[in-house]
Amino acid sequence: MSGPESFDMVIFGGLGDLASRKLIPALYYLHRDGQIADDSRVIGIGRSAMQGEDFRSHAEQACRRQVREADLDEDTLRAFLQRLDYLAVDARSAEDFRALATLLRRPEGPECRVYFLATAPTLFAQICEHLAAVGLNDACSRVVLEKPLGTDHDSAAAINRRVGAVFSERQIFRIDHYLGKETVQNLMALRFGNALFEPLWHRTNIRDVQITLAEEVGIGGRAEYYEHTGAMRDMVQNHLLQLLCIVAMEPPTATGADAVRDEKLKVLRALKPLRGAEALAHTVRGQYRAGAVAGAAVPGYREEEGVAGDSHTETFVVIQSQIETWRWAGVPFFLRTGKRLATRRAEIVINFHPVPLNLFGPEQGPIPANRLVIRLQPDEGVHLHVLAKQPGPAMRLKPVTLNLDFARTFKVRPLDAYERLLTEVVRGNLTLFMRNDELEAAWRWVDPILAAWADSGEAPKGYTAGSWGPSSAVSLLARAGHAWHEDADSGD
Ligand code: BG6
Repeated sequence: MSGPESFDMVIFGGLGDLASRKLIPALYYLHRDGQIADDSRVIGIGRSAMQGEDFRSHAEQACRRQVREADLDEDTLRAFLQRLDYLAVDARSAEDFRALATLLRRPEGPECRVYFLATAPTLFAQICEHLAAVGLNDACSRVVLEKPLGTDHDSAAAINRRVGAVFSERQIFRIDHYLGKETVQNLMALRFGNALFEPLWHRTNIRDVQITLAEEVGIGGRAEYYEHTGAMRDMVQNHLLQLLCIVAMEPPTATGADAVRDEKLKVLRALKPLRGAEALAHTVRGQYRAGAVAGAAVPGYREEEGVAGDSHTETFVVIQSQIETWRWAGVPFFLRTGKRLATRRAEIVINFHPVPLNLFGPEQGPIPANRLVIRLQPDEGVHLHVLAKQPGPAMRLKPVTLNLDFARTFKVRPLDAYERLLTEVVRGNLTLFMRNDELEAAWRWVDPILAAWADSGEAPKGYTAGSWGPSSAVSLLARAGHAWHEDADSGD
């Protein structure tokens, strides 16, 4: 097998939060694990004038903060930092892009050039046009666009159009880092690598699907971004809808990029539109108030620095969605995400129908239905809840869980999502990235819900930090005859 391809990776927003928290540490790990060819370089781009040396020390701090101590080897870190360089570029300055072209020109060019745009989306088109103007959009170039891509359908389509005018679709990698998570990949393995589940994956057997992305963290120092973004644009439009697609899509004919993305697109297009009163009836949006998370008191959203005292930005969303296909008609897909919730947990819960008849008599009580829990974080794994006989003379059934704990089973450190995604970009594999039509279809479904909320003039419902959201998040399901799985029992 040939070694990894050599690359020059240019990170726009090189001094930003994403670069420090995710990209630089991910590149350190790839370097440490021999996944980066010797002559590959990483060039941080920012607006501030600074020397390569300053950028390297910035990156060193980032690695010391983010990389596990046991994984941080001083010699390896030093060697990694030698790959790094810095250039100040103003996104409006053609001259600065000419300087970038000069820096990137080398006689023995790398096999690929990656431009990672970790900047505000309003700069995406302009940066790509400048790159093209200095010839940096040749066949070996790839551009990575970090979410959020636009703020609604029209702005996303405009970005797609302008970027698409200078880079071809197969050069454009739209990141949704949830697609890089180990368990999301495992969901594909579970569904399409086993004969067991697929025949059950149907409305005849499944009662509802619940996808939860719950966070303990608040908005940190990101008020400026979050105030005009909110949970719908930050988490639902991308991460939650992508997970929904992987759960609900038909088996693709291959694992190639377009085969998978074609199937995901069909799911997005089959989502029943939610508009006006129907959107209000099938959604809940909330905003955290002061409370306690993990034993520590935390302020409410409106008290966070940089947030307006009367802000209507939602930090919590629940949506009851429907996929209008023969496979899924009538099966509600409950989507839930929020900040400052009771615990950090990302999971997909498939609730099966109960058995049609209780053979074990009234003393047994109701028989809980089977449930498949696909846990993305923490403790990545798959848990199947089944019923078994409780030991003893009486015939009593008790729920037990068949657990597949990935960390314990495979005993290897799972790749961080960005390690996997950066590797796939260098390999030129688009399977884990969103195509332009997928992105636009997701916005097309989200826009009318946002419009219904705005037209209603209502403020999001308050919830206490450290809870599971406003009480209406529970009553929404109760009205439909369902319950969140942590309410249906003590969780798993
Ligand atoms: C990001 C959002 O896309 O995902 C953040 O902008 C959120 O608000 C984060 O905290 C969650 O990602 P993860 O991988 O920590 O679950």
